[in-house]
Amino acid sequence: MSADIEINTEKRNFDQEAANWDQVPGRVKMAQDIAHSMIQEITLTPDMDILDFGCGTGLLTFALQPFVRSVAGVDSSQGMLDVFKTKIKEQNLSNVKANYLDLDKGDALEGSYHLIVSSMTLHHVKNINPLLKQFYSILLPSGQLAIADLEPDDGKFHSNNDGVFHFGFDREDLHRTFIDAGFRDVRHRVAAQVEKPVGGGQTRLFAMFLMTGRK
Ligand SMILES: C[S@@+](CC[C@H](N)C(=O)[O-])C[C@H]1O[C@@H](n2cnc3c(N)ncnc32)[C@H](O)[C@@H]1O
Repeated sequence: MSADIEINTEKRNFDQEAANWDQVPGRVKMAQDIAHSMIQEITLTPDMDILDFGCGTGLLTFALQPFVRSVAGVDSSQGMLDVFKTKIKEQNLSNVKANYLDLDKGDALEGSYHLIVSSMTLHHVKNINPLLKQFYSILLPSGQLAIADLEPDDGKFHSNNDGVFHFGFDREDLHRTFIDAGFRDVRHRVAAQVEKPVGGGQTRLFAMFLMTGRK
């Protein structure tokens, strides 16, 4: 990351955005593309239990749930979780649940899972290394981690950088963090691309990677 970019540590208010989160077509398509790339990279089976970290309104969760036994979402925004829970009711799903969890308040991940997924949440977490170690500790033997997030973006992807601790990730650096946390068979690829306005009448194509690793 270039030295002249300042990180804004204000927490982003996802509660305020929750009601309209799914109304942005580019965001929904990005989540669908990321889900598709996960389905291509990971063999989902009907006996799998998944954790979706930073599940938001469940765009990724609900795309993966038909292929597995259960998906548990966790998120630090009650507003996002309320939208998520409304969808559970509307779709009458018994294999999906959502719980409040805020790492910044010292909450720890619980349970044991065959797969942990996360989409566009890692850049909102200040300390990545302890989080990846927590993921490793709650995965079942040979369980997998699949993280989709921004390629380096110079701080331009978000129109407001509140709560954005990483202006994308260098894949080689993140690969090493996966290895340091204990993961093996670490692989990465492009998962999605989104064109967004960046001011001055210009648009820019932003890419999201998918990185996977096995316990
Ligand atoms: C950009 S949204 C992505 C939501 C969803 N995964 C998607 O693809 O639509 C990031 C989500 O991460 C959650 N989040 C941010 N920091 C978190 C933390 N420390 N612990 C748990 N969730 C967090 C936010 O509340 C938000 O719902």
